[in-house]
Amino acid sequence: MTLRVLSVASEAVPLVKTGGLADVAGALPAALAPHGVELTTLIPGYRSVMSSLEKAKVVHKWPMLLGQPARLLAGELGGNPLLVLDAPAYFDRVGGPYGDEAGRDWDDNWRRFAALARAAADIAGGAAKGLAFDIVHAHDWQAALTPAYLRFAPLDGGRSVPSVVTIHNMAFQGYFDAAIFAELRLTDEAWSVDGVESYGGVGFLKAGMQLADGITTVSPTYAQEIRSPEFGMGLEGIVLARSNRVHGILNGIDPAEWSPASDPYLAAQYGAGQLARRKANKRALEREFGLGTDEGPLFVVVSRLTWQKGMDVLIEVLDHLVGIGGRLALLGSGDATIEHGFADAALRHPGRIGVRIGYDEALSHRMQGGGDAILVPSRFEPCGLTQLYGLAYGCVPVVARTGGLADTVIDANPAALAAGVATGIQMTAVNQVSLAAAVSRAVELYRSPGEWRRLQRNGMKADFSWGASGAAYAALYRQLAGDAQ
Ligand code: ADP
Ligand code: GLC
Repeated sequence: MTLRVLSVASEAVPLVKTGGLADVAGALPAALAPHGVELTTLIPGYRSVMSSLEKAKVVHKWPMLLGQPARLLAGELGGNPLLVLDAPAYFDRVGGPYGDEAGRDWDDNWRRFAALARAAADIAGGAAKGLAFDIVHAHDWQAALTPAYLRFAPLDGGRSVPSVVTIHNMAFQGYFDAAIFAELRLTDEAWSVDGVESYGGVGFLKAGMQLADGITTVSPTYAQEIRSPEFGMGLEGIVLARSNRVHGILNGIDPAEWSPASDPYLAAQYGAGQLARRKANKRALEREFGLGTDEGPLFVVVSRLTWQKGMDVLIEVLDHLVGIGGRLALLGSGDATIEHGFADAALRHPGRIGVRIGYDEALSHRMQGGGDAILVPSRFEPCGLTQLYGLAYGCVPVVARTGGLADTVIDANPAALAAGVATGIQMTAVNQVSLAAAVSRAVELYRSPGEWRRLQRNGMKADFSWGASGAAYAALYRQLAGDAQ
């Protein structure tokens, strides 16, 4: 029997993306289809989403959804069913999904995403004629209030459905002042440690973790790490208390978007047996970043420029990187001090460090296809996708041993090299000394072309498709659907 799942997310490729969540939410429908699961994605109708919707039809109307009118539109996402919450008062704005053009969060984000969750709970309950679901799958804090509505304020006469919450990043918890509670239109009973209350405020992610029937996070190592205060960030108690419901399921990559043999953004496409073809991409990238041509490796970074990503540490290591013959091309945006730090380094090292502040999907592909190594020195990383793209593209990942980075990269230590299984370089701690050492190891390995090619090929041949993870989600859905019957 086909299982029908409603997947609720604040972003999904190709309609709206600020990070890895969009890649994953966009890839899940195709990942689940081979396992007898039909996944329908619900996303907010941001201005950009509304303008790219084709042939959508109205399938439900709310005269008031937490105080504002809303409609539900049905369309398609890459051939799979899509639902869009069209609520202009919440989502028809100039700027990004979470904030204005200057990057300031909207003041009413709690209401915007409570409305998304309220809508999801109504849809799951059967509010929209002709739409029925067996499971609701809520991603991150923006959707995590869904289980709270299902539990404390379900649709009148609605169907009861089990829920799954996926934590893509414990650092973003959707924590708000207690004063908003009254406006959420939950029952008084929800104001409790067993409900939405969290350290005296309202915790969206906390509520989801407390109330969902299943909790997943995006790698097995991160599922372990969040049991500790350092990674659990205040929610480790719930992780421990509900540990029999917590599953670590690794993200995969979508081959339709990320395959070097068919990537339309690359100057030269290539497979694992055609590594020489990467040269044209590297030369194009050097030109694009105003870098000289050189014998040494070209490191790349495609990242949010934040503390999580260890970017402050990387700035401190750049003189060393250049001093030993490396070059760097960086694409990213984020904290102003970090952006300035990279811009300064580019001025100090013209022709050796090139920096592009901004967001550019096409360029991110060209960097994976032309860079020699991708640096991901994250302090924590629930899964991480750029190292996976690096592996698939023969752009050797140099990563911190944490979360999904630990689970996906095999360090080129002497034993792994001897066994011929290494795929990249790992550092244990994120500080200047270890990052400098990791960069040195990369430069050294790069000087042995045979060894380097082996690393590249091993990565390109490794399987990071959604196969096993799609099966793991399907098994979890089936178990929960069975539990509820
Ligand atoms: P996170 O979601 O924590 O930012 P991930 O590694 O899971 O980290 O996913 C980041 C995604 O966003 C990847 O698809 C990466 O290529 C993309 N990305 C990050 N920064 C940029 C940028 N400046 N331009 C284009 N793509 C970017
Ligand atoms: C989050 C995490 C990242 C993960 C992504 C998709 O943004 O920071 O590690 O890959 O979600 O699950």
